[in-house]
Amino acid sequence: MRNPVDNPFTPGSDTVPEVWAGRTEQLSDWRDAMRPRLLKGLPERGRTILGEPGLGKSSLVRRIAQHAERSGDWVTPQLRIPLGADPMKLVAAATLQLADSAGLASSRERRLKQLLQRVEAVAVSGASLSVRGSEGPEPHTALTELLVEVGRAAIEARKVALIHVDEVQNVTDERALSQLLIALGDAITFETEVTLPGGAQIRRTLPIAVYLTGLPDFEDRAGAHKGATFARRFKTTLLAPIGDDDLAGALQDFVDPGWEVSDESGGVQLVRFEQDAVSAVIDLCRGEPFLFQLAGQHAWNADTTDTVTREQVARGWRSAQREAVAHVERILGRLPQREREFVEAMARIPAQERRLTRIAAEAGFAKPSDAGTTSRRLDTVRGIIERGTQYTFRHRALEAFLTSDWPNLE
Ligand SMILES: Nc1ncnc2c1ncn2[C@@H]1O[C@H](COP(=O)(O)OP(=O)(O)OP(=O)(O)O)[C@@H](O)[C@H]1O
Ligand SMILES: [Mg+2]
Repeated sequence: MRNPVDNPFTPGSDTVPEVWAGRTEQLSDWRDAMRPRLLKGLPERGRTILGEPGLGKSSLVRRIAQHAERSGDWVTPQLRIPLGADPMKLVAAATLQLADSAGLASSRERRLKQLLQRVEAVAVSGASLSVRGSEGPEPHTALTELLVEVGRAAIEARKVALIHVDEVQNVTDERALSQLLIALGDAITFETEVTLPGGAQIRRTLPIAVYLTGLPDFEDRAGAHKGATFARRFKTTLLAPIGDDDLAGALQDFVDPGWEVSDESGGVQLVRFEQDAVSAVIDLCRGEPFLFQLAGQHAWNADTTDTVTREQVARGWRSAQREAVAHVERILGRLPQREREFVEAMARIPAQERRLTRIAAEAGFAKPSDAGTTSRRLDTVRGIIERGTQYTFRHRALEAFLTSDWPNLE
């Protein structure tokens, strides 16, 4: 008998979900490019993964971190920045833990001991740590120096050190953001000398992987103020909704052989989704990972039989609808007024007629250039629309909400 206790769907949790869909490109970027290159001492930029709420940014990097951890790497927890908090404190504390994993904490070397003390001070006072008058350098310098030591130890141990800073859009303090990006950026680009087995000396970069995740708004902040340096050192990926094929792939185990749950007598039994039930879930969630988990969870809980039917998906969805709508409304509500007017105008026009001038007129923009800037942001910064001769929606749930009777299942 299936019940809420063995429900594998987890809407709203940013840990790695049991039912995983897609993101193969990003996972492979880590597994096949970033990690092996870092281990070889080849330079790799940090990764900034941005996207609208609920697109799976945190989960993706937790999955990468999980892979790293299973490969024996040194991994920080998800360093979630609360609104307005000083990220230097969190990252300094996490780096001290990495140093601990690397065995640096027990070092007798005086220089290392002093360095650890300096970073401990940063973990307490953050970017505002006053250094004037004292002989110590700026907080970011101490942090970089310790990261370099961790990186050197990682070379010895043939491991990668992975740092994950989440909710980066919450860093509102310019100075703290600048210190953070410089500290991390300097560590990733640092070159150290190593001796090869034959005795030859070469220069290599450190095996340090940095992942920053958060809302697209971060790009404005970091992009505008830190300019070229940030862009050169970090590569930004804007997450798109998950493709229907990938969602179907994720649910394939439920169709055949079925999802294993324990039965009352301590054995296992299989819960199956009918093919129609799978199609219904995919149709409802429109590529949104959060809605996918939500629809799956409610379908599972709609009954206790060992087969999930389309009717159960529909019944479950009725109890999830309010939450589903709230999710999309939150995305719409976060948009600055012009951008919101733009997508709403776009939605009112028939799909084949969605051209910039037509949308601008429909939205009542006085100057065509306003429409240009607005649509560029919606495309390149947020990934909500795609410009072209014809404008289309990339955010399919937003499109469905604005142009159809979604969330109703026909
Ligand atoms: N690849 C995936 N396959 C299946 N479910 C996923 C996937 N990625 C994320 N999810 C689910 O989607 C929901 C949202 O994920 P997550 O919290 O990682 O998104 P986010 O982009 O970090 O959101 P926020 O902007 O609110 O922090 C979670 O319930 C998570 O389990
Ligand atoms: Mg998140």
